[in-house]
Amino acid sequence: KKTASSAEDIRACKGKTPIVSLTAYTTPMARFMDAHCDFVLVGDSVGMVLHGLTSTLGVTMDMMIMHGQAVARGLQSALMVIDMPFGSYEETPQQAFRNAARLMAETGAGAVKLEGGVEMAETIRFLVARGIPVMAHIGLTPQSVNTLGGYKVQGRDEQADKVLADARAVADAGAFSVVLEKVPQKLADQITADVAIPTIGIGASAGCDGQILVVDDMLGFFTAFKAKFVKRYAQLGDDAEAAIAAYAAEVRAREFPAPEHVFADQAPKKSAQKK
Ligand code: KIV
Ligand code: NA
Repeated sequence: KKTASSAEDIRACKGKTPIVSLTAYTTPMARFMDAHCDFVLVGDSVGMVLHGLTSTLGVTMDMMIMHGQAVARGLQSALMVIDMPFGSYEETPQQAFRNAARLMAETGAGAVKLEGGVEMAETIRFLVARGIPVMAHIGLTPQSVNTLGGYKVQGRDEQADKVLADARAVADAGAFSVVLEKVPQKLADQITADVAIPTIGIGASAGCDGQILVVDDMLGFFTAFKAKFVKRYAQLGDDAEAAIAAYAAEVRAREFPAPEHVFADQAPKKSAQKK
């Protein structure tokens, strides 16, 4: 089998094969990536990418569950990981367990992801001990945008020790992997060499054990802004707008629908012709 399908499969990739992942929020997109990705993340980026929110803070459990259920219908082999939304896990390990269990039970996800390092280690330990595989997420943690003062690079200069301590703390607590978002390349490489669990980079380093991107970013579908770490592998937003403009022009010129799109008043005689 080409792709990983459990959290333990992901963990076992460390030092062996690069881990491929993307976010997904819908069934058709999940279908496109199932055969190519080791895991698919139902990210709380859904709030910004599909719902027009200006941060991830407004994303709810119900939104995550609905998108998680949609993604699950499109996956057969890749592991599905689902983000815990802001406010669903920070209070206590018990609160985190209750909501993580609900996310997994109602969507079929094989693991959850939550943001935070040292301060979330106790919660990660609590979840893992009770059957919930946890992917950690350190460096730039978008749910903390208001205390971080923006979406800045994390771990430069004297901040590097904090991010390294976060990585060690989540690994010690039993996380099966850790996302490193927007940290300097050298620090990402140092963390990758230091911890026994796979690092998943986004704006980090090609030396990470795996990579993740937001699918709408890499397809050029989300164009409100482009982070430096995003590579656009397609321009679907441009394609979509051009297609919509062409449709609008044809409707206004009465060129669409054309003869092949309309129905005769009598069914055609038996032939290859589609009714
Ligand atoms: O929500 C998200 O898309 C994420 C990834 C960018 C790691 O957390
Ligand atoms: Na996220």
